Amino acid sequence: PLVTSKELFKKAYEGGYAIGAFNVNNMEIIQGIVEAAKEENSPLILQVSAGARKYARPVYLKKLVEAAVEDTGLPVVLHLDHGESFEICKACIDDGFTSVMIDGSKLPFEENITLTKKVVDYAHEHGVVVEAELGRIGGVEDNISVGEREATFTDPDQALEFVERTGVDSLAIAIGTSHGAYKFKGEPYLDFKRLEEIMKRLPGFPLVLHGASTVLPEFVEACNKYGGSIHSAKGVPEEMLRKAASLGICKINIDTDLRLAMTAMIRKYLAENPSEFDPRKYLGAAREAIKEMVKHKIRNVLGSSNKL
Ligand code: G3H
Ligand code: 13P
Ligand code: ZN
Ligand code: NA
Repeated sequence: PLVTSKELFKKAYEGGYAIGAFNVNNMEIIQGIVEAAKEENSPLILQVSAGARKYARPVYLKKLVEAAVEDTGLPVVLHLDHGESFEICKACIDDGFTSVMIDGSKLPFEENITLTKKVVDYAHEHGVVVEAELGRIGGVEDNISVGEREATFTDPDQALEFVERTGVDSLAIAIGTSHGAYKFKGEPYLDFKRLEEIMKRLPGFPLVLHGASTVLPEFVEACNKYGGSIHSAKGVPEEMLRKAASLGICKINIDTDLRLAMTAMIRKYLAENPSEFDPRKYLGAAREAIKEMVKHKIRNVLGSSNKL
């Protein structure tokens, strides 16, 4: 069935592991992820961004996720990633999502609280849980210095006030990660002291880590070996993610590593099989690459194997 993350987060917090939240955009991605979770007997969050809804159209993603649940029998959380308005959150809640993110992180503190509270009220009336964001996680396009970046990290006192005033179910925090394949110019750094300060103020409360891809060099190299051009890509070291998962981080968001695994495999397949033009061949290989990546994450990063 489709389930909320309430009980999953509680178990993850207590067990010192995290649940993977993987972005989905098409059938092969969904199948690769759920097959991995099934084999690992792992809890799972499938998340859909506004861009994914635009690309695949909402009804297709919803039906594909329903098909995955029916096919595998897995409990799956269907989550909206980075909802930026009440309207998109409402649309997903009305569509049967079990979890939504309202991302008011670009707004001033009070406006973020007001918007988040409005979504929480509607969601809770419908049995849906809500993730919010405080601090700026940022993306590839944010070309800012280290000092400027740290000014966007989550303030622990504000985190407590935000959670109390909104009644939100989980909170995405900014401690040094960013979206995409170019996360660090120098040495990777996450502010674990800040994470621990936030945990002290919110004991037992589930925290979320966005921008948590590792950007494994072998996948970047495979892309480049077969015609790609991806340079200076750097992600979060797995050791740091394991540490975050052992602490209050209960949800770890991964999209970029799936994109790299899929693209590396499609490039390799087409380069090695130049006369092949059946999409099922290279998309099938890509689906297998997604599955292997997700199994690797579940086993070696999240620690969520056999937690169902
Ligand atoms: O947070 C961003 C996720 O990687 C989804 O990306 O908005 O391009 O679908 P997207
Ligand atoms: P990555 O770009 O590091 O995979 O992060 C994905 C994410 O946070 C989606 O919300
Ligand atoms: Zn994100
Ligand atoms: Na954890």
